[in-house]
Amino acid sequence: MNDQTSIKPIDGKLLVLTPGMGAVGTTFIAGVESIRKGYTKPIGSVSQMQTIRLGARSTNKNPLIKDFVPLADLNDLVFGGWDVFPDSVYEAAARAEVLKPSDLEPLKDFLHSIKPMPAAFDQRYVKRLNGTHVKQGTTKRDLAEQLRADIRNKIKETGASRAVMVWCGSTEVYISPSKVHMSIEAFEKGMEDNDPAISPSQLYAYAAIKEGVAYANGAPNLSADFPALVDLAEKEGVAIAGKDFKTGQTLMKTILSPGLKARMIGIRGWFSDNILGNRDGEVLDDPESFKSKEVTKSGVLETILQPDLYPDLYKDMYHKIRINYYPPRGDAKEGWDNIDIFGWMGYPMQIKVNFLCRDSILAAPIVLDLALFMDLAQRAGKSGVQEWLSFFFKSPQVSEGHIQENDLFIQHMRLKNTLRVLGGEPPVTHISENFNDL
Ligand SMILES: NC(=O)c1ccc[n+]([C@@H]2O[C@H](COP(=O)([O-])OP(=O)(O)OC[C@H]3O[C@@H](n4cnc5c(N)ncnc54)[C@H](O)[C@@H]3O)[C@@H](O)[C@H]2O)c1
Repeated sequence: MNDQTSIKPIDGKLLVLTPGMGAVGTTFIAGVESIRKGYTKPIGSVSQMQTIRLGARSTNKNPLIKDFVPLADLNDLVFGGWDVFPDSVYEAAARAEVLKPSDLEPLKDFLHSIKPMPAAFDQRYVKRLNGTHVKQGTTKRDLAEQLRADIRNKIKETGASRAVMVWCGSTEVYISPSKVHMSIEAFEKGMEDNDPAISPSQLYAYAAIKEGVAYANGAPNLSADFPALVDLAEKEGVAIAGKDFKTGQTLMKTILSPGLKARMIGIRGWFSDNILGNRDGEVLDDPESFKSKEVTKSGVLETILQPDLYPDLYKDMYHKIRINYYPPRGDAKEGWDNIDIFGWMGYPMQIKVNFLCRDSILAAPIVLDLALFMDLAQRAGKSGVQEWLSFFFKSPQVSEGHIQENDLFIQHMRLKNTLRVLGGEPPVTHISENFNDL
């Protein structure tokens, strides 16, 4: 068992780097500052608000997670990032219209002081964006080296002792792993040759790993989830995780479907429709970016329901997902789910879910939790893919040969048991040592 002493102590500030300082990135930063100023509470953040039971229930030991494992304190977080637009975090947050002016104004000076570094960007990978605040480089390798220098400079400038990176950039077009992604050598050569299969987000991931900075991917595109970067992360002793923050509709899906399955209720069809009007919605309006999202969203039901094991209940289930760009709604997304289920003697029933959510309000606490848990993993020497953080992702990255777990409750149990072990406590199995109490 791990013990706390094997986790490197917190010795200064933690720099949280976000490639992409749009709706999610700025809502995250503004929220942390608002919490630090005492204006609000960290609602939605597992690391800040959730307790963790230790030992038998009767001992009543339930510390907050943040008091149990050594996580960076919110007051020790500093921020940096990149964007294809030069707006400060204040300007970008105001433009995104997630937060009300009355919430942003008291934070104005702080948010205005954070300005994005020029992005490694190429419009071929995000067709609907036309950015001007971008790096020039002769090769992709050159751009990656510039990103590495940015990381080192930002650490110095902010006085941080270490950094983590959480990709909050736009969804790039769908790319399936090819030869260039299969080994570190092929990937490095590919960057030199400007291989089209290497997207900007992959350059950020590479730069982070080479600088010993843990990397989590909040978008659905291919970024660090291929053998070359997994091998590099293991070799460099760096934690990586992904992908696609589990918010809105997929969160509901992974809450509801395990419950229906637990009661052996059949499902004939699940139709999911969405309207959203933020820049993310505009980017996803491009079919190639949508393909990336569709792939991460569609896998969840299959892995949770296991139609191979339960053909009578789920074999012929029809699953359809639609995302529609609808500007009037901005960040206030609306999702509809129609679920056709069946029960005893095959009798049909229906469930309708109408979720009027706020995308970035749901995503911001995930960025915070990932930053803190990735930093913990890194200090605990846990390198490579961090499957225990699957809880936060729509399509969790897993190590080779492992099967994705999408059931939110199993993911939650794994998250907490990993934290228990990292904190030097035994996992909770819900089985008493006394056989008679089972
Ligand atoms: N909000 C949610 O609930 C949610 C859930 C899951 C995943 N995501 C993903 O998170 C990402 C961010 O979402 P958002 O709502 O903040 O979108 P957004 O469009 O408001 O912000 C993305 C930002 O990334 C910037 N960007 C694009 N390419 C870049 C690059 N190469 N380098 C640096 N910056 C770059 C854009 O200019 C933009 O400002 C998207 O990929 C989205 O799909 C969001």
